[in-house]
Amino acid sequence: MVYGFLIFWLVIGLAVFFTAMRGGPRGARESLHTENRAGQRAVLAAVTVVFAFGLVVPALVLAFNGADKASVAAGGVHLNAEQQHGRYLFSQSCAVCHTLRAAKSNGMIGPNLDIRLGSQIPTEAGRRELVLNAIAEGRARGLGQMPAQLYQGKDAEAIASFVAAVAGH
Ligand code: HEC
Repeated sequence: MVYGFLIFWLVIGLAVFFTAMRGGPRGARESLHTENRAGQRAVLAAVTVVFAFGLVVPALVLAFNGADKASVAAGGVHLNAEQQHGRYLFSQSCAVCHTLRAAKSNGMIGPNLDIRLGSQIPTEAGRRELVLNAIAEGRARGLGQMPAQLYQGKDAEAIASFVAAVAGH
């Protein structure tokens, strides 16, 4: 669907561009007073803007649409299928409270996980264990409240695997 959108704009842009290059249909030229050079340049500029938007808008749509499923997280870490699922779950239930750059989250209620995990826990296995433990037991150590058991089983593991891989990146 997005590609259809892109091609649609490309065709429109090209059609307008070539029409303008050929001097435009007679009626349009007369009504727009493009007989002089300045007028022609203005039309060319307008056409270029339309053309550029036809490329830029769909390109942005493509780029942001892809962000959800991209196998490379923000920060450049490659994610396997489980970790991509973990990223989705994280955005659903953890992002409101935690900042994590790779999930593009800015939660201010709990600790920043890039710092708490990325800077303070040296191994990926260690980070994974801590996340699993936090999910299972919750936290209330004086820094606020984190509910226990937001996820269980495979979902909890997917989140732990995602967070452990990307924290600090
Ligand atoms: C309602 C807000 C909230 C939500 C939702 C939440 N957390 Fe937390 N989280 C906190 C708070 C607050 C703390 C710190 C509590 C404390 O240590 O007293 C914390 C601590 C943590 C820690 C650090 C634990 C430690 O021992 O230092 C990790 C890891 C963590 N959360 C991961 C997650 C994950 C993964 C999710 C999603 C499943 C999640 N959190 C959802 C609020 C939240």
